[in-house]
Amino acid sequence: MPEDARGGFLKGVLGDVRSLFSARMVLTAWLPCLLITVLHYRTPPHHGWVHDVARRLYYLPILFAAFSEGTRGGISVSVFVSLIYFPHAFTSLVSRDPGDALEKGLEILLYNIVAVVAGLLVDRERGEREKQERLARKLSEALDEQRRIEAQLIRAGRLGALGEMTAGIAHEIKNPLHALKGTAEILRDVIPPDAPERRMLDLHMGEIDRLAHTAERFLRFARPAQADRRPLDLRDVVGRVVSLVETQARKDGVETIFRPIEGEGIPTVSGDADQLTQLLLNIAINGVQAMAPRGGGTLTFSHVSERQGEKRFHVVRVVNSGPPIPTDQLERIFDPFFTTKDGGTGLGLSIGSRIADQNDGVLSVRNLPEGQGVEFSLALPAGE
Ligand SMILES: Nc1ncnc2c1ncn2[C@@H]1O[C@H](COP(=O)(O)OP(=O)(O)O)[C@@H](O)[C@H]1O
Ligand SMILES: [Mg+2]
Repeated sequence: MPEDARGGFLKGVLGDVRSLFSARMVLTAWLPCLLITVLHYRTPPHHGWVHDVARRLYYLPILFAAFSEGTRGGISVSVFVSLIYFPHAFTSLVSRDPGDALEKGLEILLYNIVAVVAGLLVDRERGEREKQERLARKLSEALDEQRRIEAQLIRAGRLGALGEMTAGIAHEIKNPLHALKGTAEILRDVIPPDAPERRMLDLHMGEIDRLAHTAERFLRFARPAQADRRPLDLRDVVGRVVSLVETQARKDGVETIFRPIEGEGIPTVSGDADQLTQLLLNIAINGVQAMAPRGGGTLTFSHVSERQGEKRFHVVRVVNSGPPIPTDQLERIFDPFFTTKDGGTGLGLSIGSRIADQNDGVLSVRNLPEGQGVEFSLALPAGE
């Protein structure tokens, strides 16, 4: 037997033995057995009825043992009782039970039959209960999953509606802007370069360009580019994000940590590397921004493989040691334009959430217990 298999086997046996001699077993089975035996052995032969009672009292500890440890417990005690009663029943070593030999033999047989039957019933009941518990656990997992999907659908719905509206407005703005730009260009041709009105017109055209640019940005948000998904190693994406954010982070007193976990296998997913980089970079920058006012902290990247129901996911976790996000904000931070920062756009996480969606992934956030920081997780279906 190999070393650790033997270790495991030994541990199993030790565990079994320990459960047979738990406090409960000692108090309800072993000790009563000994007391009954002492009473039995010390009863003089002419008190025949006391012997009869004592002989039957043994059923109690046998049943108790079967109730608490199943067949294993019941049989251990019934075999022990058979052995310890045998000399008293059939020999005169110490004293002798005056009962009928056939009756005593049958009694010993019955001890063991009762132990087996009671033990089997208990084992079956226990197996049934474990099955129920497993089912209940599965059900609660499925419910959790459903709740998560619902939350995501609501989020996606909100995003979709807002995206359409944004696209509509941006589109409506772009057409008149086009006309404004055209007419301004005609005007420029007729205004001499050194006339004072020319400066105003240039300003005018500059602002038109800026507005067009903004409208373009909104359109891009509303109709993001299709994901160009290819098989990729998630560690490469994380590595790229780390090298992009490291320098700024260090300036803000933030230490960046990324330990690819050995033995986890290659976390291959099918995704758009640029989009995923953008997503994780946004999260990393948010993390740095959350810690900077407190003089810094740590930004930790890690990845694990997880099974959720039938599917396997590779999960990237980004943890920043900053203050927790207030509960009433936790759901809203993925909403477009939700920001708590001066000059924030509130678009980073909503775009991130959309990117996760486009790559069949799930982006989620939680506050770690005991103020250990904020954790963002991106779960992507595992590829081959
Ligand atoms: N790591 C974090 N810690 C605390 N709050 C965060 C964190 N990441 C995001 N937030 C909150 O979510 C809001 C939205 O983030 P985001 O969509 O990236 O927009 P922005 O960064 O422009 O505010 C932030 O304003 C902030 O309140
Ligand atoms: Mg941001």
